[in-house]
Amino acid sequence: MNEDNILNGKKVAQSVKDRVKIQVDKLKEKGVNPQLTVVLVGKDPASQVYVRMKGKACEKLGILSNTILLDKNASEDELLSLIHKLNNDVNVHGILVQLPLPKQINDQKVIEYINPQKDVDCFHPHNVGLLVNGSPYVLPCTPAGVVEILKYYKIDTEGKHVVIVGRSNIVGKPAANLLMQKNRFANATVTVAHSRTKDLPSITKQADILIAAIGMPQFIKKDMVKADCTVIDVGTNRIDADNEKGYRLVGDVDFDNVQPFVEKITPVPGGVGPMTIAMLMQNTVTVAARQNGLEPEGV
Ligand SMILES: NC(=O)c1ccc[n+]([C@@H]2O[C@H](COP(=O)([O-])OP(=O)(O)OC[C@H]3O[C@@H](n4cnc5c(N)ncnc54)[C@H](OP(=O)(O)O)[C@@H]3O)[C@@H](O)[C@H]2O)c1
Repeated sequence: MNEDNILNGKKVAQSVKDRVKIQVDKLKEKGVNPQLTVVLVGKDPASQVYVRMKGKACEKLGILSNTILLDKNASEDELLSLIHKLNNDVNVHGILVQLPLPKQINDQKVIEYINPQKDVDCFHPHNVGLLVNGSPYVLPCTPAGVVEILKYYKIDTEGKHVVIVGRSNIVGKPAANLLMQKNRFANATVTVAHSRTKDLPSITKQADILIAAIGMPQFIKKDMVKADCTVIDVGTNRIDADNEKGYRLVGDVDFDNVQPFVEKITPVPGGVGPMTIAMLMQNTVTVAARQNGLEPEGV
């Protein structure tokens, strides 16, 4: 298999982390010790894996990290009062509540309760508004990771038709907002498709850059893309596999058939996934700098 067209997210993520490490060291010289607190409610196995990965990434970069575990039956009030404490703790720069939350807790209420200055996910409506306005406080992690991959591989978005399949608040919408901005690494013509879109292949086939954020394994087939397209696969889906774990990860794109056909493509795993964590590290350092009246780098 010719792998020349595969965009290596691990390599790009490492380059971001190298940059963040320098920023961490500079902040420490100024007496600021960046700290991220992650709150996990319950023991969802996938969430536990993500939280562990975030903790390890912090450790490697010299960012202090703290994980607070709440019981799966914790009430909304309990979580809100914990966030209240973290909001008021000057040593905590970033707060991340791992989603999804158990059904007794309203995700949106929790997101809105986090101090926007500590919102490392860029989920708070205040920060979403700043992003839409083109003056972001932090960048949304996964979409910013997508942009970093495009930047690293010098894939210009200016004037390109970017088609995003998926309109979630976590990926699709913020990716659209980021890529339509009037700036050097955006300036794209963006189309957002979703489950009510009619004749999806006729739209995806127009994409110069196709971003798949659907959550359906191998949904994007070869006959849905054009040959000179760059495909960015955000999807992370577990499918049954005959291995020790009993599953393997696949994206929203039918990689085996699409990869040989298109110009460039991200794999799953090893594509967008590592970028999300790298951008979270960047955001932690950015908010730590901002909270201490320092000019952040990398936004
Ligand atoms: N790599 C990473 O770091 C990372 C980060 C976040 C998410 N993810 C992965 O990315 C995927 C998407 O995540 P998400 O949080 O955005 O998911 P989500 O909230 O479930 O949103 C999925 C979107 O896909 C659309 N969709 C569903 N079926 C469709 C169809 N048949 N045709 C066209 N559009 C369809 C939905 O449309 P409607 O709005 O009409 O329902 C929705 O907008 C998941 O696999 C998730 O695990 C990966």
